[in-house]
Amino acid sequence: MRGIIEVYKGDITKLDCECIVNAANSSLLGGGGVDGAIHRAAGPELLRECRGLGGCATGQAKITKGYKLKAKYIIHTVGPVYFACDRPAELLTDCYRNSLELAAENGIHSIAFPGISTGVYGYPVSEAAPIAAAAVQRWLNENSGYDMKVIFVCFDDISYNLYKDIIKV
Ligand code: APR
Repeated sequence: MRGIIEVYKGDITKLDCECIVNAANSSLLGGGGVDGAIHRAAGPELLRECRGLGGCATGQAKITKGYKLKAKYIIHTVGPVYFACDRPAELLTDCYRNSLELAAENGIHSIAFPGISTGVYGYPVSEAAPIAAAAVQRWLNENSGYDMKVIFVCFDDISYNLYKDIIKV
């Protein structure tokens, strides 16, 4: 397999892969958007585990079990708030790289990302998508001996078409 990138349109909580990534906030105690959907689908045990993690800094990532999800693991990462941050691209890149690093450390070989920061945190998807794609591609190139399938999960047609264009799949 080695490095594979796919683009998928739909609800990330329904995906049948080893790990899904949550676009969380620094408390890791849940919220709206994809975070709320993941907590609802995984069930209350997820919040219990998250309470013990002590939060997460922007650009960093922490891992939990997937509980009621098909995914065995959830990696929680905190994206930058676009208008409140003077280096959003760098921090968004960190989210993707640190999530992939943590996934590989845990022996994960398939991981699905939502559009981190592109909802409530206000990052325009037209700017975020190429940053996400470049960060993932770079990690795959640097870890070419490791089998990893990366799925970009888009919730709407605009992001889906944008990602399809960038990834050329
Ligand atoms: N599956 C896939 N993608 C989804 C889903 C879903 N079920 N629900 C929302 N999305 C998409 C949104 O369309 C958006 O493109 O996920 C992207 C990220 O949006 P948000 O969830 O708003 O995440 P973000 O912009 O990173 O803001 C994080 O929102 O509620 C919170 O706790 C979270 O405070 C944090 C903030």
